[in-house]
Amino acid sequence: MAEAPEGLVDAERGLVSRRIFVEPDIYRQEMENIFARCWLFLCHESQIPRPGDFITTSMGEDPVLVVRDDGGRVNAFLNVCRHRGNRLCRAEDGNASSFTCSYHGWSYGNDGKLVAVPNLEDAYYRELEQGRWGLMPVAQMDSYKGLVFATFDPSAPPLVDYLGEMTWYLDNFFDRCEGGIEVVGGVHRWNIGCNWKFPSESFGGDNYHTMWTHLSAIRVGIGAGVSPASTGGGNVVSSAGGHGFQTIGPSDVKDPPVPEILEYEAFILPEVKKRLGPRRELLNPIVGTIFPNFSMLRATSHTFRVWQPRGPEQVEVQAYVFVDANAPEHVKEATRLMSIRSFGPAGTFEQDDMDNAPAAGRCPGTWS
Ligand code: FES
Ligand SMILES: [Fe+2]
Repeated sequence: MAEAPEGLVDAERGLVSRRIFVEPDIYRQEMENIFARCWLFLCHESQIPRPGDFITTSMGEDPVLVVRDDGGRVNAFLNVCRHRGNRLCRAEDGNASSFTCSYHGWSYGNDGKLVAVPNLEDAYYRELEQGRWGLMPVAQMDSYKGLVFATFDPSAPPLVDYLGEMTWYLDNFFDRCEGGIEVVGGVHRWNIGCNWKFPSESFGGDNYHTMWTHLSAIRVGIGAGVSPASTGGGNVVSSAGGHGFQTIGPSDVKDPPVPEILEYEAFILPEVKKRLGPRRELLNPIVGTIFPNFSMLRATSHTFRVWQPRGPEQVEVQAYVFVDANAPEHVKEATRLMSIRSFGPAGTFEQDDMDNAPAAGRCPGTWS
């Protein structure tokens, strides 16, 4: 493991150098020490419910294919052909019993096995050991409440230990009602010219920006009961491992200000409180980040997203809308529309954040 660069953190004064947002060498070390070792979010199981369903994503900068095989098991492989390293699957999602490389035509089953090689006898004289050349699986994969994670590190601790005390906070988003959640619609992908840590940290702990950055949206009533005069309120909860959630009071409402949604939220509140237990009487988590790059939001919008690093000054956003799986259809549709209007790529709140993100932290080399 490479040494951490000197002089980046002044713990005494609570300062972090802006170099962390721009320097290629720091980024390279992050790929090695963070993205090759941490548990990284891949998808929610509702995105791939049937045998053959797949999505493509990435772990750090490495392309990954997540696919439910014909036996119903979820697998995650490097989305790279074992022959000459071509990108295997280029679709964002779909259903397939096999995947055929566009270069020389090697085919892999949805369980990752190499099942067909063109001209096997002529080209390889029957000497190719097909059993050795299946797709490369991730080192470990596991799920929590339908959230599928994987790591490239075979010695990483179990997922549930990695999430630690944050599991209860995740339950507030993904397991607050019987049946859990489901993803509606597909993925929105877009790029922002900033470092991956900028939005990740913003979701994990920056409630200070809300009242100013999003003032226009709040003033026109999209801010879900937020007063423009307040400081954001609530608390920030962080745990070992770099995870963080922002919370509000147990009775504060930051649900999307749409009558169908507010009515539904009031209806399910007793069940929510029962499932989440006494801690829900103290805290209501509304936005957070599981380190390093999986964030979620339950105020004004129902979205979770992955901040995919694409170089020191580029992040690819993969954003999804989620709803309670057992919610009525009209509530799901209202949630989807409100989520896109506020935190879709052209959403009011999202545009506010995207305007600041490329400019913030861009003055390297100094503390101030
Ligand atoms: S690179 Fe995939 S078949 Fe040759
Ligand atoms: Fe924001």
